[in-house]
Amino acid sequence: MTISGKTRVCGVIGDPIEHTLSPAIQNAAFTHLKLDFVFLAFRVKAVELEDAMRGMRGLGIHGLNVTMPHKKAVTAFLDEIDSTAKFLCAVNTVLNDNGRLCGFNTDGVGALKALQENGVDPSGKKVLLLGAGGAAKAIAFQLAKEAEELVLLNRTPEKATELAELLNQALGKEVKGAMLSPNTIQKNLRDSDLLVNATSVGMHPNDNQSPVAREWLKPDLTVMDIVYNPVETQLAKDAKAAGARVISGVEMLVHQGAASFEIWTGRPAPVEVMRKAAMWKLVEDVSR
Ligand SMILES: NC(=O)c1ccc[n+]([C@@H]2O[C@H](COP(=O)([O-])OP(=O)(O)OC[C@H]3O[C@@H](n4cnc5c(N)ncnc54)[C@H](OP(=O)(O)O)[C@@H]3O)[C@@H](O)[C@H]2O)c1
Repeated sequence: MTISGKTRVCGVIGDPIEHTLSPAIQNAAFTHLKLDFVFLAFRVKAVELEDAMRGMRGLGIHGLNVTMPHKKAVTAFLDEIDSTAKFLCAVNTVLNDNGRLCGFNTDGVGALKALQENGVDPSGKKVLLLGAGGAAKAIAFQLAKEAEELVLLNRTPEKATELAELLNQALGKEVKGAMLSPNTIQKNLRDSDLLVNATSVGMHPNDNQSPVAREWLKPDLTVMDIVYNPVETQLAKDAKAAGARVISGVEMLVHQGAASFEIWTGRPAPVEVMRKAAMWKLVEDVSR
């Protein structure tokens, strides 16, 4: 990669940010397509977010990914927000379009693409989604449009019922929300086609935890665990052992990054290159 006077700068802002995989994924894609772009990580504290966004304008930074804790707060500093990001009250991608800062959210699209590219079409299916946090909300918005039936279960049940109500109003679909418990999981799993874990249960360092008892998993189920560290979660291992189809969180990570790449460059993203870069970085981080 050669940096020139014309190199366009993209990056990710968040706090903490040092463990982000985005520079590895995006720089691999820029290099592969020989684009004169570079991608950096910027640690931005909450109190400095406004200055950072003014800096994006002033320095002509071309694109940003936005991660915790800024996804909601950043909306106050943008000129335009697309309808999905507006619904979610959360932006994970900003494009600097000749001085106009435009916000998008690629999390839900990334999750849907991860399913579709792995041969899973959620339309006409019953989907059980665990979680009602930021990622779950984005996924629920996308899957509610496609699925025949969507059930949301969350540890804090009010968040699941509120999100279900919001989706019912916005999309006119009947989404159900309830408390995440062994009982509700077992009951809903019986006739579900697709299970998506969007809670943080099973995330490193709690590698051996799973939100679902292994005896409830079945061969005719597809399981997508959006947790990507570890690459193969306990839930994914149990689902594989039960004969279910498994889609890793790395797939969503790569596809949401690919959608951001396409917003910034207007070029089709080299998804395979991005997947390899993500896996390489995850393996490198684990072996440290
Ligand atoms: N693959 C990808 O591209 C991708 C993208 C985004 C996020 N992620 C991963 O997805 C996970 C969630 O991220 P997020 O941004 O949505 O986080 P978040 O907004 O903090 O939400 C966390 C969710 O996990 C639930 N939860 C946490 N601990 C739990 C426990 N012990 N038992 C049951 N539920 C529990 C929370 O329930 P309460 O509401 O009750 O607290 C909430 O629903 C993280 O592991 C993150 O790394 C992956």
